[in-house]
Amino acid sequence: MKVQIDDREFDLMLAYDQIKKRTRFLGIQLNVDYENQVPVFIGVLNGSFLFMADLIKEIHISCEMGFIKVSSYHGGDTTSGIVKEVIGLDIDITGRDVIIVEDIVDTGLTLSFLIERLKQLNPASINICSLLFKPAALQKEIDELTYVGFEIPNEFVVGYGLDYKGLGRNLKDIYRACPVTSET
Ligand code: PRP
Repeated sequence: MKVQIDDREFDLMLAYDQIKKRTRFLGIQLNVDYENQVPVFIGVLNGSFLFMADLIKEIHISCEMGFIKVSSYHGGDTTSGIVKEVIGLDIDITGRDVIIVEDIVDTGLTLSFLIERLKQLNPASINICSLLFKPAALQKEIDELTYVGFEIPNEFVVGYGLDYKGLGRNLKDIYRACPVTSET
């Protein structure tokens, strides 16, 4: 199944059914690992909003949640490597067990910035739960990346919260960009 978003064509990569099954499994793992704690889930906006919504419904232990917003892509399909915080966190995470919820770990620059910032607030622990992970694109090792939904190849992906030029976040499934064919 293909979709057209702006000037590019995308192919189905992960159907919502697969995402849902995997999310349920991640939820089970988190419920077990944090059984006797009251963790704080922090979603990284905008991309994580759908994953966070589905994941948190699978969490049955007592927990808090909030969102933080950082920016690194500026709506295109290549990373600028510049990461800056835009919206801060409004929960005191001192002494708390934090789980950062991401839609995708690409270069890892967003997360390494975020982890450094959050560590300054002295949480008891920090772990990452990311739906997608592109090992081949990673520029910074992330020790805290404990929970991963799917490892994917180094391809541009869109849908289920992820955008291409600001579009496509509303797609229920995840799609990969088709190779660009240049006409001569
Ligand atoms: C995306 C994604 C991650 C980050 C990952 O966010 O949601 O936060 O990029 O990339 P990295 O590992 O190379 O740093 P983006 O900055 O595009 O903002 P958005 O969530 O609003 O789309």
